[in-house]
Amino acid sequence: MTTISGPAAGSAFDPFAAEQRDDPYPSYAALRDESPCVRLDRYGVWLISRYDGVAAVLRDWETFSSAQGAGLEPVATPEEGGVILSTDPPDHTRVRRAVARDFTPKAIGALEPRVRDLVGTAFERVLTGAEVDWIAQVAQPVPTTVMAELMGYPDRHRDEYCRWASTIFDSMGCPAGGATPALAEATGGLFGFVAGIAADGEYVAEGWADRIVQAGAQGELGQGEVVSLLGGILVAAMDTTVNMLGNLAHALATHPEQWALLVERPELVPSAIEEVLRFESPIQPGFFRVTTTETTVADVTLPAGSRVMVAFGAANRDPRQFPDPDAFLVDRSPNDHLAFGRGVHFCLGAPVARMIGRVVLSELVANAAEIRLAGPSVRKTNRMLRGFDSLPLSVRNRSRR
Ligand code: HEM
Repeated sequence: MTTISGPAAGSAFDPFAAEQRDDPYPSYAALRDESPCVRLDRYGVWLISRYDGVAAVLRDWETFSSAQGAGLEPVATPEEGGVILSTDPPDHTRVRRAVARDFTPKAIGALEPRVRDLVGTAFERVLTGAEVDWIAQVAQPVPTTVMAELMGYPDRHRDEYCRWASTIFDSMGCPAGGATPALAEATGGLFGFVAGIAADGEYVAEGWADRIVQAGAQGELGQGEVVSLLGGILVAAMDTTVNMLGNLAHALATHPEQWALLVERPELVPSAIEEVLRFESPIQPGFFRVTTTETTVADVTLPAGSRVMVAFGAANRDPRQFPDPDAFLVDRSPNDHLAFGRGVHFCLGAPVARMIGRVVLSELVANAAEIRLAGPSVRKTNRMLRGFDSLPLSVRNRSRR
């Protein structure tokens, strides 16, 4: 593990290093205590780790701009970085309004029965007590189908959404934009697919894609923005939600007393979803901003043009905000975590992710007697996401007790 000590230390710290993957939390704790705003020399960026610092940066879009993208390296155009993620107001306000307008609690509520069906089908294979890979059986297929149907996309390429999204997320944490053949294949595959759908009108009427294309036709969005949104929303939605579901099952299997509490008090399901988002935030180490003017964070003066990482996972374990932050407590309250960000870029899909999490967990609590690790899990190697590639579990059905 990287050792960090002293006020100027931490500068050699590498938040993307492979050895951080198993357990990044001791390093985050050292950073919060000793260097809450620290320059990472290797990357020429600043890392902010305390809750109040991260929340303040996210709230202040005028000082901490998204216009150069949310990744480690600047993007050439907003479209390249995902147009909604890589713009500041007023452009961001226009784009977000065009996308968010029809994305109402009613529309999301209407999806819930369909999600319950999908979870029910997935659980037929899971609730047997035999070893199953939770990621392959539940965490990937449920959000993939929900997102494809929400957008109104045709059936093809669904098996590729996760790989495309994962590769694109990973590149956001790579020096030189991670310009690899895998990235070219992922961006070519994803954006070729959605551009084709938009050009051919090959989407379901009234779906989210339809509305975005209509906003383009009415001149509210440019054509590049339309394609960037059609692909970018899938990227934002897929692996984040997959990892939330993987992290959830892992946390429950490794905290049997919290599982027992949920079975006893199923009304805690929504609170358990918030807790897993805090405890194992899917986006780690964090996203970036660039300072538009000289500013101060945690007593450190940052010149204009500084690239700053907001470390969601570190902020969400800050004892200054959360008592006993390293404990997974499904009844934690209050729980004002930052896993969905804060401010103007607050996750647009948070209600969808929360609904998926709630349906999966409530079905699990209603139907499973026990959830156990059944073999060695494989952590993701992604530079921007925390979760599992594979998570073998044994989930015993309540009726077979
Ligand atoms: C557990 C799952 C998810 C997590 C942890 C997550 C996390 C985040 C975070 C931290 C941001 C803020 C980025 C920033 O401040 O730069 C964000 C933005 C965004 N998310 Fe999510 N997200 C999740 C699921 C989803 C889903 C399901 C969708 C789509 C249905 C979605 C769509 C978006 C979009 C479009 C943005 C950009 C919003 C903007 O810039 O105004 N996300 N997400």
